[in-house]
Formats: sequence, structure tokens, C-alpha cells
Amino acid sequence: MKQEIIANLTNEFKNNQKVLTAIGDETRQAILMTLIQGQQYPGMRVGEIKERTHLSRPAVSHHLRILKDAQIISVRKEGAWTTDLGYNATKKAFEHTCKKLKVEYLDMYLIHFASPHYVEAWKAMEELYSEGRIKVIGVANFEIQHLEHLMAHSRIPPMINQIETHPEFPQNELHDYLVQHRISHEAWGPLGQGNKALLDRKELAEIARHHKKSAAQVILRWHLQRGIIVIPKSSNPKRIKENSEIFDFELTAEEMEKVNRLNTGKRYSVNPTGYIVNPFYVKLMKLFIR
Ligand SMILES: NC(=O)c1ccc[n+]([C@@H]2O[C@H](COP(=O)([O-])OP(=O)(O)OC[C@H]3O[C@@H](n4cnc5c(N)ncnc54)[C@H](OP(=O)(O)O)[C@@H]3O)[C@@H](O)[C@H]2O)c1
Repeated sequence: MKQEIIANLTNEFKNNQKVLTAIGDETRQAILMTLIQGQQYPGMRVGEIKERTHLSRPAVSHHLRILKDAQIISVRKEGAWTTDLGYNATKKAFEHTCKKLKVEYLDMYLIHFASPHYVEAWKAMEELYSEGRIKVIGVANFEIQHLEHLMAHSRIPPMINQIETHPEFPQNELHDYLVQHRISHEAWGPLGQGNKALLDRKELAEIARHHKKSAAQVILRWHLQRGIIVIPKSSNPKRIKENSEIFDFELTAEEMEKVNRLNTGKRYSVNPTGYIVNPFYVKLMKLFIR
């Protein structure tokens, strides 16, 4: 079956170069990842779809036919941090996404930020989960206080929290909290968003040389050994392949500690606590994103 998928995808890829270059990076990654490897990897997602990426939706639904046995559809609910807040809006946004993707259910649905009314949004997601319309419900960019508040006001605790995590910002305290509450930790920006200041660190180069791997592979391996799910993004087929080849070596405790010491407490993105989206941006999004 896997061979069949690869063969189909290879043809699709050859025949649809234009489609593949026109769609979003995440979708291209999902397709290329499957194309190259033909299988999923423990701890790795093959793709993430931004609900607002209007170009990726038709492409994904087009490829679902052949990807159906090999993909995970994970949608970060972009609306939840901008305009589609609350119970009704979440139900509506979910149906809208399913309709656009031409699917009956989603594998994973996340609230993007701890925006106002996230408890009401969560209630809608709990119901969709109970009805089997979403297989995994979770959040993104939630800090401990948001998780505490959500869990105090909900029936089902979040199953996953997708947060900025990389060696310079390992999220130690939040990570321990997630482990303690059995919430999966998923790292976005696992490679520090490709920042050279991180990827060129000599400590990583030393470890990489020892294992005949790249610095990026060492970082991804470090995440996995911490029990973290990684979703590295690349639009480069060679790097996509490289990022998947991290299951044939192991970092020693000493090497793990060396990477731990790269912690500078530096976020590459905004601090999600108290983050407010500019109302002007929200209006613009409403105009351009269908
Ligand atoms: N929940 C949230 O709020 C949130 C926020 C940001 C991102 N995300 C999601 O997280 C995922 C990944 O995060 P991200 O894209 O921000 O950061 P990332 O995966 O850490 O880094 C991506 C960057 O690293 C480069 N790269 C990838 N593999 C490499 C390798 N082996 N060697 C050297 N450079 C490499 C890529 O360049 P090339 O393309 O040139 O290879 C790209 O510029 C995405 O799916 C994104 O949608 C979620």
C-alpha cells in the first residue's frame, strides 16, 4: 500500500508542479514528506494546515484522495485568536473548514491562542470530539495559567499544547507541567525557525560531527528524547528528508545536557500572555480570507 501511495504521489508530483508551487509551505511539506518517505514517523506530523491559508485547502482536498492512508490533518484554528471566538463561532469555523477540505472529520483541531472566550470555544470542541468529528483537541501557545483556567472550566482536558520550543527556549517549567498533566508537548519552531545563531552553534556542530548528522538533526533528536512532538518546516526536499532521519542515532546524557545548556530564555516570537491582535489586522483578515 505504501509503495502504491508513493507511486501515485510521484505521478501527482510530476504532473502538478504548478499546484505544488502555488500552495502553502505546510501543505507542500506534507506532500513532499509523504512523497519521499511514504510513511509517518513516530513523533512527527506530516503537515499542518493553517485554516486561513485559502490556497492550501483546495490543494489538500485534492490530494486527500491519495494521501488518505498517510496523512494527519491538523488544523490550527486561526479564527480563535482573531474573530471567530466563542461557542457558535467555533462550531461554524469547524464546519467551514471541513467543507472546504471536503472531509467529515479532522485529526486534530487547536485553539491558536488563549484569546477571549477560549472556554466557550473549548466547549464546542469538546462536543465535536465526543461526536467523533475531531480525534484530538488541543491548544497552542497556552501558558500554565491558561491551562489551569481551562481545565477548571472544562470536562475534557486539552490533549496537546503546541508551543514555541527550541534549545534556546526549552520551556522547562511548562514542559514539566505538561508531563505532569499528561498533555502532549508539541514544539513549533523546533529549529528556532531556522535561525543561524542557533543552527551554527559550535556545541551542536561537535555533537553532529560525532554522530555524522547535521545540527538540525541533533536538535530534532534532542526534542524527541525529551518526549516532544516536532513539526519542523522546510520547503526544501533535501532538508525534509534530513529532518526525518533522526531515528537511527541517540544522544548521550552528556550530549543532552550540552544542548540543555544552550538555553538563553530567548523567544523568537511574541510572548503569548496578554497578546492582543490589532483590530485593524482582524478587519483586513475578514476582507481577504474566505
Ligand atoms: N502555533 C503557533 O503559534 C505557531 C507559530 C509558528 C509556527 N508554527 C508552526 O510550526 C511549524 C514549524 O515552525 P517554523 O516554521 O516556525 O520553524 P522551524 O520549523 O523551526 O524552522 C523552519 C525554518 O528552518 C529551516 N530549516 C528546516 N529544516 C532545516 C535544516 N535541516 N537545516 C537548516 N535549516 C532548516 C527552513 O528553511 P527551508 O524552508 O529553506 O528549509 C525554515 O526557514 C510550522 O508548521 C508552523 O506552521 C506554529
